[in-house]
Formats: sequence, C-alpha cells, structure tokens
Amino acid sequence: MPVFDPADVGFLADPYPAFALLRALGPVHDHPSLGTPVAVSHAACSALLRGRDLGRIWADAEPAADFAAFNLLHRNSLLEREGEPHHRLRAAVAGAFNRGHTARLEPWVRGLAGRLVDDLASGIAADGRSDVISVLAAALPVEVIAELLGVPEPERSALRGWSNAIVTMYEPAVSDPAGGDVRRAAAERASAEFVAALRELAEHRRRHPGEDLVSDLVAAGIDADELVGTAALLLMAGHEATVNVIGNGVLALLRHPAQWEVLATAPLAPAVEELIRYDPPLQLFERTAVVDTEVAGHPVPAGTRIAALLGAAAHDPQVFERPDELDVTRAHNPHLGFGLGVHYCLGAPLARLEVAAALDALRTRLPGMALAAEPERRPDFVMRGLRTLPVTA
Ligand code: HEM
Repeated sequence: MPVFDPADVGFLADPYPAFALLRALGPVHDHPSLGTPVAVSHAACSALLRGRDLGRIWADAEPAADFAAFNLLHRNSLLEREGEPHHRLRAAVAGAFNRGHTARLEPWVRGLAGRLVDDLASGIAADGRSDVISVLAAALPVEVIAELLGVPEPERSALRGWSNAIVTMYEPAVSDPAGGDVRRAAAERASAEFVAALRELAEHRRRHPGEDLVSDLVAAGIDADELVGTAALLLMAGHEATVNVIGNGVLALLRHPAQWEVLATAPLAPAVEELIRYDPPLQLFERTAVVDTEVAGHPVPAGTRIAALLGAAAHDPQVFERPDELDVTRAHNPHLGFGLGVHYCLGAPLARLEVAAALDALRTRLPGMALAAEPERRPDFVMRGLRTLPVTA
C-alpha cells in the first residue's frame, strides 16, 4: 500500500504523485501513521465534508491542564462547533461580514498590495533579489485581517508569531521527531497571550465601538469566550491560508513562465481559483462520525475520525481536465479549497480579493519577475507553504 509519510521531505516537495497512486487504488484508504483513514477522491472528500453524520467534534488537547488557553480558543471557535451553537455563531460572523467590510477594504487592500510590491521591487533593485514570502505574502494578509478586526499595535505585530505557534498543533505528531513537547508548550504560551490580548480588545470595543468586525460581534451579543474563540479563528484562518496561497501560487507561476505571461492580460478571478486548486494551502481537514456511517463505502464507526485530503481531491482526473497542469484560464474549476457544506469558508470573498490584489500588483510592477534561487519549504504537511521565495527581475 503506497501510503505517504507526511514528514518525508521528498513527499512534501511534491505530494501529488503519491496522491495520484492512492486515488487510482480507491477513494478512501487507511493511514496508520496519521491515525485516520483518508478520503482522496473529489467525490469522497465532498461526501465527507457534506456528510450530516460527520461533524467537527472538538477534543481538548491533553493533558487539559497544560492547554487551558489553547483549548479555550478552540472549544469556543465557530469552526469547532456543530448544530445550534455553530449556526448562531456563523450567523453573527456572516452578518458582520455582510455589512460590507470586504467591499469597504478593497481600495485599501489594493493600495497596500501595491506598496508591498514596490518594497519587493526596491529590494531587487538594491540587492539583486528579494523574498516574496516575508515582503508580500506574509505581510499582506496579516495587515488586512488586523485592519478588519481593528487590532491595534503592538498586538498587530505579535499576531503572526502567535498564529504560527498555534497552528503547529494541527500537524500530525509524526512529523515532529522530538515528540512535539517544545512545540506544544509554545502553542499554549502563544494561546495565553492571544486570549489576554483579545479579551482586552473586546472590552475596549464594548466601551468604544468602532467600524470594525470585533465591534459588530460585541453588538451581536455573543458571549465573552465565544468572542475570543471566534476572533482568534478569524485572525488565524484569516491569514495563514492566504499567506500560503500567495506563496504557493507565485511559485507555481514562476515554474510555469508561459502561464505567468498569459496572466499579464488574463482575467484575475479564474487565475486565483486555479492557484488555490493547483497547490492548496490547506491539505487536510478531519471530521468525526456522530453515528455509525460510511464514506464512499468505507465504514466509519461512531466516534472515529476520517480526513479529507483536499490536495488529492484538487488533482482528481474525474473532475478536472489535465489536473496536473497549471491553467490560469481554467473555466470549470469546482475545487474544494474553501471547503464545502456548513463550514464553507466565510472569508472566501476577502481571500479572493487579497490574492487578486497581490497578483495584480506583481504583474503590473514586476512583469519580468523570475526565481532567484530555489525556495525553502516549511516542513509542514497540513498547512502547505514556503518559508522563503527569492525572486529577481
Ligand atoms: C485562500 C485563503 C483561504 C482558504 C484556502 C480557506 C479555506 C477554508 C476551509 C477549507 C475552511 C473549511 C474547514 C472545514 O471544513 O473543516 C474554512 C473555514 C473558515 N474560514 Fe477560510 N480560508 C481562507 C481564507 C479565509 C479568510 C481570509 C478568512 C476570514 C477573514 C477565513 C475565515 C474562515 C472561517 C471563519 C471559517 C469557519 C467557517 C465555519 O466553521 O462555519 N478564511 N476556510
């Protein structure tokens, strides 16, 4: 059985051939080292994400006493709830988003993307090369989500470090040779600082409401812990994936210079969808069976987990023509990069806007951009992305 090793650097460099082998053998496979079966076809991943017998059932990180803040953030987050609490929180967040925050931010996002690409160009002019990840991909989404939520300095600068430390907990333990103790302690420390900062922010907005999303959530009357959990989710979900779509996407374009040339004049919207499909920033999501059920014929007993491998679904030849080719003009593109069903990504319009703004600024200000050296990859499987992406022009 060609199951993959999520810690193997060769696999991480290009996981898609391993996924293709698995897909050819069947839609769902047991994966002993991940500890859950994995769905690899588009149809099985869709069924899993839509399944009413499966849910996101939060289990506290153990020992719970060592993870008080990490567990508080997640137990109260909209993403980790189901049923009535999920519905109520999602309605509050969707209501806040629908009040036009994304549209209000659009010119500001475009201006910011332009300034960051100017910084990239200045770096190239001065040193012959610059880094897309640190100068553009990591900077843009953090600034945007912090602006949307009204997070002031110095918390704004601390946000990326907290978020990076917390999301390492989502990686399978197998990818950490040290057993993860240092990583887990750092995640809890970051969570505690994050909780304290968000409580203060919420309290401030209760007394001084503003134009931001936290003020809207306070006005919607959700309880204090739910507000902290949901604001933390927005701040993390709101940037981790977007950083990696910009990084993975720019790398894909630079490895396919003919596509970069096409994008000089092609519409941006299909290109954004294609970059999310071609090398998805979020590779895996889990669900727990609420009752005995099955996914594509694979039994999933009540209380057990199963994972959707979004990266594998994204290259399924049953759904996508020439799935391993990058085609920024792809017309039929029902990718699952934003999920599906009741947890479908609430930030998709904002993410699309940010990625389009970054691409637009790059194609107009750095049309001759090229790889300056091999990029360095983050050693993570679930959150797929780059540490550095050196470019020249
Ligand atoms: C390109 C960037 C992004 C990608 C690929 C992405 C992907 C996803 C996916 C796959 C899910 C579903 C998880 C599941 O089913 O278990 C999700 C949920 C979510 N995303 Fe995003 N996301 C992105 C950007 C954003 C942004 C910018 C925000 C907020 C401003 C955001 C907020 C959320 C929220 C709140 C949920 C939970 C919805 C719920 O549980 O009902 N995301 N996202």
